[in-house]
This record gives sequence, structure tokens and C-alpha cells, in this order.
Amino acid sequence: MKIVELNQSNTILNRYLAEIRDIHIQKDSLRFRRNIERIGEIMAYEISRDLPYHPLEVQTPLALATENVPAIQPVVATILRAGLPLHQGFINYFDQAENAFVSAFRKYIDEDHFDIHIEYIASPRLDGKTLIITDPMLATGGSMELAYKALLTKGEPAHIHVASIIASRQAVEHVKKTFPADKTTIWCAAVDPELNAHSYIVPGLGDAGDLCYGEK
Ligand code: URA
Repeated sequence: MKIVELNQSNTILNRYLAEIRDIHIQKDSLRFRRNIERIGEIMAYEISRDLPYHPLEVQTPLALATENVPAIQPVVATILRAGLPLHQGFINYFDQAENAFVSAFRKYIDEDHFDIHIEYIASPRLDGKTLIITDPMLATGGSMELAYKALLTKGEPAHIHVASIIASRQAVEHVKKTFPADKTTIWCAAVDPELNAHSYIVPGLGDAGDLCYGEK
């Protein structure tokens, strides 16, 4: 399975990543959401390098020009709610993409233990399509696995791109075990070393959903 860690190259993405992690800057929720969206745009651009292309002839005011353009538009699927600004970033670039949404939530058994439940799914048919599943924080990989299984009820995609801003090492291992290796690519802006007792990524950035949409 191919795994791409985008912060391994020095690009402007690393600036946005630093800002969403920074406790002083992330309090500005408008900036936080916009930074997530910008990272979604950069991830979409990176993933676009992996799509099939074909030549397209277009008429300019002066002559015909030929450009290689993506031969397909992916389906962009997002896990609610923290995924919403990331989703917006993806569809800013894949502007003809189909969209899917899955809601997953943690149901706590006690302070440290929870099950993940899928409550809602809205998706087009996925047979033979390229599916991008986005979730800004890939902590355990549990929600990603359940979202993928829920999406499979809509058909078997030809390729799956798992796109997260920050993933834990443990979650990367989980995705490697639970997704089809021959047709899955994992894209992360960063892979962080560990989870705390509440399954939050460390150093991570805190609770992405609350930072986007939570109480002040
Ligand atoms: N969800 C988050 O928002 N942050 C984490 O660290 C883990 C899950």
C-alpha cells in the first residue's frame, strides 16, 4: 500500500499545518477552518497527480490547443463533522466530483472506552469509481474503516484514496490491515507518533470538530 506523508517535502502546506496545530492561532476558528480547507486543496492537487489523464482539444481565440486533463472525477466522501472544511477544499479543486457523506460518532462506554457508530450515509453508486475518503484526524482508523464499509454498500470502487491531515502511526497500521492493499493509497499531511488514553493524536492539534464548529 502506498503511503504519502506530505510534510516530508518543504512546501507551503507545512505553514498551514503549523497554524492548525498552534494553540494560539487555532482559537481563530475562521482561520482554522480556512487552513483545513487550504490543506484539502493541496491534498487534492497532490492526489490529482495519481489520476488517469487523457488529451483534450480546446479552441482558443487563435487556434486549437491540446491539454492533458483528468480522465475521471473522483467521488469525494467525508466523515462528518470535522471533515466539512476539508471536503470543501477537495471540491474546490475537483469541482465536478460527486459527493458522499458519512456520519460517525464515538459512543462512550466509560471515560476511556468507546465504540464508533455510523449513523447516516449519503452516497452515489461507487462501482468502478475512484473514491477519496477524507477525515482530518485519523486517530485509531476505526471511523475510517467503518465509513469505508458503509460506503461499500454503494458498490466496489476501483481505487480508494484515504486522505487525512494528521494520522497516528497506529491508524496507518490499521488502514494497512483493513483496506485492500492493491488499490488503496494513504495521503497524510503528517504522521504523529502516538495516541493518548482518550485516543487523541499526540502532538496532534486537539479536537478538530470542536475547533471548527464547537462552543467558544
Ligand atoms: N479527533 C480529533 O479531532 N482529534 C484527535 O486527536 C483524534 C480524533
